[in-house]
Amino acid sequence: MIRTLPDIKLQKLSEFIELKLALHFPKERWDDLERNIRSAAKEFEYQDVDSFIQHIVSSPLTREHSELLAAHLTISETYFWREPESFEVLEQMILPELIRLRQKNNKRIRIWSAGCSGGEEPYSIAIALTRIIPDIKNWNISILATDINPRNLQKAVTGEYGAWSFRTSPKWLKEKYFIEKNKGHFQIIPAIKNMVTFEYLNLAENDYPSPLNHTNAMDIIYCRNVLMYFNQERFRLVAKGLYNSLIEGGYFVVSSSELSTQNFPDFLPVNIPGFVLYQKNSSNKRKQNKNEISETYPEPQLFTLTAKPEPTPVFVQDLVKPNLSETESSVFKEEDILQTTDQIYEEILNTYSKGNYPEVINRLQKVDLSPDEQILLIRAYANTGKLSDALTECQKAILTRKLDSKIHYLYASILQELKQPDEAIAALKRAIYIDPDFVLSYYSLGNLYLKKGNMDATKKYYKNILSIINKWSDDEIVPESEGLTTGRFKQIINATLKTAALS
Ligand SMILES: C[S@@+](CC[C@H](N)C(=O)[O-])C[C@H]1O[C@@H](n2cnc3c(N)ncnc32)[C@H](O)[C@@H]1O
Repeated sequence: MIRTLPDIKLQKLSEFIELKLALHFPKERWDDLERNIRSAAKEFEYQDVDSFIQHIVSSPLTREHSELLAAHLTISETYFWREPESFEVLEQMILPELIRLRQKNNKRIRIWSAGCSGGEEPYSIAIALTRIIPDIKNWNISILATDINPRNLQKAVTGEYGAWSFRTSPKWLKEKYFIEKNKGHFQIIPAIKNMVTFEYLNLAENDYPSPLNHTNAMDIIYCRNVLMYFNQERFRLVAKGLYNSLIEGGYFVVSSSELSTQNFPDFLPVNIPGFVLYQKNSSNKRKQNKNEISETYPEPQLFTLTAKPEPTPVFVQDLVKPNLSETESSVFKEEDILQTTDQIYEEILNTYSKGNYPEVINRLQKVDLSPDEQILLIRAYANTGKLSDALTECQKAILTRKLDSKIHYLYASILQELKQPDEAIAALKRAIYIDPDFVLSYYSLGNLYLKKGNMDATKKYYKNILSIINKWSDDEIVPESEGLTTGRFKQIINATLKTAALS
């Protein structure tokens, strides 16, 4: 593209974007910047790009507009089986290891595709799982796919793609997992489509991990070609949040162009010939904190990736095992007794925000928990994947706080993770009975009915949401949403209503 905007204007614009949106546009990417700002100008209904730039730098941006701008400034370009090595490592190393660990246990696997664009990445992950797990129907598989751009999410939910989305993917992928609808348009098969849940989530603003947005206790997180847009500070914060969203031993996959020990100091790099990924390993973090040498971790020269044309389940036994041991228990010091309850709660909250969930659980093993402590304990259990403990704690909390709609909602979130949709529906209805304006409960109900294929119920609950939030201002944060604005929520509901009407 030929740049027509003068350098001085692009310089000012990139500084403004860095300051307001924490997105980094060095000079080498000014072509992209100009192209993207032109497409944003169109969406904001500006005839010429100059007056649009003038407008955004001189008037306060609402949060909704910031997000819309961010969605334009970050490219959504992607395709199926992008960087094949990242799926080969999933099929040949990570999944066999997880299957071995979980098949006698709870048969649960949780994966998050953060910045999923139009769904090509999470659907590729779902295909890899289907290829590797022969009895997949007996497993509790969650693939959460999130993005900031509602248009991308709408495309993903529709599940229809043109030939360009398969440009480098293996032939079997399109043949086996898609149905040609009309010439050059391919529909993902329902068995794969139903494995993925799409949700709106702004990695820069929303809170995670949280059982409320299902970003807790992930075994694997793919966050590829997203972090590279952020400036250093935002990058660090997002990487920390994603680290906390993983369980101990969980894996983190970025694109090969984003690899950097400097950028991911908490993670342990795992080098496989042909690919590098990261692992959450708290003992590695502790070592680094004490400036100890971390080179003692074995270099996994254990296998080389080989492209697999046909699905053949591989069970690799002797790979590097994630260290699944819990953090050592801490001992209460005597001074603690002299601390006030508030101080102790603040301290535990601080430990929670650092992502040290085993320590939070440890400290909250006492009777007479306050309501806030009880919530923190439930969330810490959920974040470490101890869902049955989280459920038991919720049940205890409900006994004493029957009229607390938030507890019923949290209970429903845990039940959904345990794949108990009918019990979750009952809990959500109780939350709405107690608080008829609890819009996220209507939203979860709508989504649960959508999964069941009950479009009438979905539409009913979504319309209830609109009738409540249409009275709110667009910048208001939706209660219990971990940072979602009302304006964005309206867009999501309207977009999903459109998609639901299509099918
Ligand atoms: C290039 S695509 C990456 C798609 C896929 N992960 C891949 O590697 O092929 C980048 C995606 O990140 C999303 N994105 C950008 N900023 C985001 C944010 N703050 N929160 C969530 N998603 C974001 C964009 O909307 C876009 O869909």
